[in-house]
Amino acid sequence: MTTSFEARTPPGRTSGRAGAGAQTAKINDIDLPAALSVQDKVLLLTGADSWRTQGAEALGLRQMTTSDGPAGVRGVIKDERQPSSSLPCPSAIGATWDTELAYELAAALGAEARAKGVDVLLAPTINLMRTPLGGRGFECFSEDPVLTARIAVAYVRGVQDAGVAATIKHYVGNDSETERWSYDARIAEHVLRELYLVPFEACVREAGAALVMAAYNSVNGMLMTENERLLKDVLKAEWGFDGVVISDWHAARSTTPTALATLDLAMPGPDGPWGEQLSEAVTSGAVSRQVLDDKVVRLLRMARLVGAMDGSASGRGDSTAQPLVDQGLLRRAVAASFVLLRNEQEALPFAQLRSLAVVGPGAIWPTIQGGGSAGVVPVSVSTPAGALRAALAGQAHVTTAQGCQIWTTVPEPPEGALRDPVSGEPGLRLEFRSADGALLGSEHRTSSVLTWWDGVPPGVGWGSSGRIVLLATMRTQASGPYLLGAAGVGHLILAVDGVVIADEVTAIPADPVEAMTRPGEIRAAVEFEAGRAAEIRLEFRPAADGEGPLAVRLGIVPAVHEEDLLAEAVQAASAAEAAVVVVGSADMTESEGFDRDTLALPGQQDELVRRVAAVNARTVVVVNSGMPVLMPWAGDVAAVIYAWLPGQAMGEALADVLLGHAEPGGRLPVTLPAAEADCPVLHAAPDNGVLSYDEGLLIGYRGYDTAGTVPQFPFGHGSGYTVWAYESVLAATGDLAPGSDLELRVIVRNAGARAGREVVQAYVAGPPGDPGRPVRALAAFGTASAEPGEAAEVVLTIPARSFARYDEEAGGWTWPPGQYAIHVGRSSRDLRLSVALISGRPSP
Ligand code: BGC
Repeated sequence: MTTSFEARTPPGRTSGRAGAGAQTAKINDIDLPAALSVQDKVLLLTGADSWRTQGAEALGLRQMTTSDGPAGVRGVIKDERQPSSSLPCPSAIGATWDTELAYELAAALGAEARAKGVDVLLAPTINLMRTPLGGRGFECFSEDPVLTARIAVAYVRGVQDAGVAATIKHYVGNDSETERWSYDARIAEHVLRELYLVPFEACVREAGAALVMAAYNSVNGMLMTENERLLKDVLKAEWGFDGVVISDWHAARSTTPTALATLDLAMPGPDGPWGEQLSEAVTSGAVSRQVLDDKVVRLLRMARLVGAMDGSASGRGDSTAQPLVDQGLLRRAVAASFVLLRNEQEALPFAQLRSLAVVGPGAIWPTIQGGGSAGVVPVSVSTPAGALRAALAGQAHVTTAQGCQIWTTVPEPPEGALRDPVSGEPGLRLEFRSADGALLGSEHRTSSVLTWWDGVPPGVGWGSSGRIVLLATMRTQASGPYLLGAAGVGHLILAVDGVVIADEVTAIPADPVEAMTRPGEIRAAVEFEAGRAAEIRLEFRPAADGEGPLAVRLGIVPAVHEEDLLAEAVQAASAAEAAVVVVGSADMTESEGFDRDTLALPGQQDELVRRVAAVNARTVVVVNSGMPVLMPWAGDVAAVIYAWLPGQAMGEALADVLLGHAEPGGRLPVTLPAAEADCPVLHAAPDNGVLSYDEGLLIGYRGYDTAGTVPQFPFGHGSGYTVWAYESVLAATGDLAPGSDLELRVIVRNAGARAGREVVQAYVAGPPGDPGRPVRALAAFGTASAEPGEAAEVVLTIPARSFARYDEEAGGWTWPPGQYAIHVGRSSRDLRLSVALISGRPSP
């Protein structure tokens, strides 16, 4: 899109709001007061603080508030006193293959954002799951660009229909975390076009996404914030994007190159590479006034969209507003995301159970979300153990056992375990002190995991000499050994009853976000005496050169023997009619800022499953992970459900599914490998700063298909509770016209005994012969709902692009002639019907 300038007047400083009759320059659809100076305009283009943009009285523009993120809206602070609704993680939303549900969730999220005074949601993440080890994979919808695009378009529409601007991120090539600030992703042009750009293009063209976030990394030698080709030429000129390109936080690292590449908004502020330097660049002519005006116009267009130009000084909403996403919606969505991978002899749903063992670390302390900017503080968490106890009350005897420990940082003590020594209330006392010990401030807190994102209390931030002190008393019921952990980036001093038990300085992490997600931890063992109140004191002096969100945490856990935990779980399982074992990722093993280094489940979880399965033939394993994990025991248990990182409604949704009140509606949005070596792309560690996407188009199931490798569970797989027969497929024509969509009609029948919902998937196979191209690729999907015995018709539109490829030499899409086939079925490896097509047949 080229911006047309209809009127121009010389710039000058403005002294107040442009009233009626003031001179304006109309740039496309926006009136820009002619009186605005270069400095006035430049000021608008860098954030006012960590999360807010600048306002401008002269324009009637108020500040706009941005907030993460895809699985809940945090608001500008992360604090247990201002909780948020915790939605299923994006890989779970991808697993629903349900665009209507994605829309509904996003609209509810948008409404909560509005209520909290948030104008710009920094979501959705629409990178692809290139490697299953990707730390942020849980924030993505799928390994497939078409599934990602369909869900993302619905998500963006949902957020924006609620009056909030959505940000598609991270443009582009930010598909892993190792060295994310600096790596150069080398991606062939046709691979960019046919895989990684697909969801971005769809969200721009179809959903009118208001913002695009430029990533930290480079693509093909050019930083994404300076990437003129991908920002100016492709995104804006070719796709017609008329919104705002926002930098990822601190990703803008130059003045003129970023400005010319058409980055529009540098975040956060108030400092950054623009400001005075950009004003000078404009004055000197290095950056033209048109380029500057275009950024301002885009910002104002976004402001208009979110109602930030209605003249009111304050934003809408209130940052302390309570979460409002309906729990019923969350519960329904979570059940719809659960993927039933295996169900031998209809082990599920449970009927007429009189006893059930619910074991595993995730049964009691589920991991409901991934780490990093996507994390929120939920109001409450429905756990599998708690929800199953409640659902089976009066019907079945439910026993619970932890089975093993998987934490990586010593966990927060259970609610109510600590007391504030000043007020006596459950929780702790938080103090801010100067270097000489003077009290700067003090407050009561209920959480011992504390994070400051929006600026820290005066005098105690990075580089200050101040201290943050946590004080608590703890009274245990039984005498015994405990493990205490203190974490934070800086100097930590932990004392019990006035005696220092650990005193160490932790290292500065590689990525600033790790200061919050996995700061260094010091630990010490203590013996607590039953009934006696022990006084705990943690002093934290943040590192002089630390950066990122400031965080400190105090963890306390009873010291236990793993063998005892395992034995207890086995005992519970052997005494029950059925056993549910909840295993999965630990808190912060899946996170922004770093990739995982293994697909194996943490701790002794594999051993736990094996031992439980050995004593209970009706063992159902629930996997609580946002991305693939290895399941070496999958063939030895009765049933397996993939449950993702499901957010606050996990337990209730699990009870609904296990007891048959809801169907596990999900299908895999990512391939689950049988072994690490089978993954088309495993580690994504840059080599000398370069990350080569050598696999080309062959990520995910495409790579497995080409290699002929059998995954543990294929892309698209998921059984549900009924059986589906695929009866017929009919294409509107057998002759493909280049550049035209194709309509496909599929008839499926519910051949089982329960009502159900089926996800009908269509994969296009192109003319054979090119080894670099996938054997087949997802082109469209749709859903059918039917009662037992009933048939349903699913009409699919196969987009023209499914038959096209990007021709690098010609710089455009081509539709190669030849034989095509569309395979229709239940997964990428369970294809039941086919239709043959010919493209380029000469007309008679
Ligand atoms: C993340 C973004 C996020 C931003 C603000 C960055 O580190 O990459 O996804 O929106 O921080 O929290």
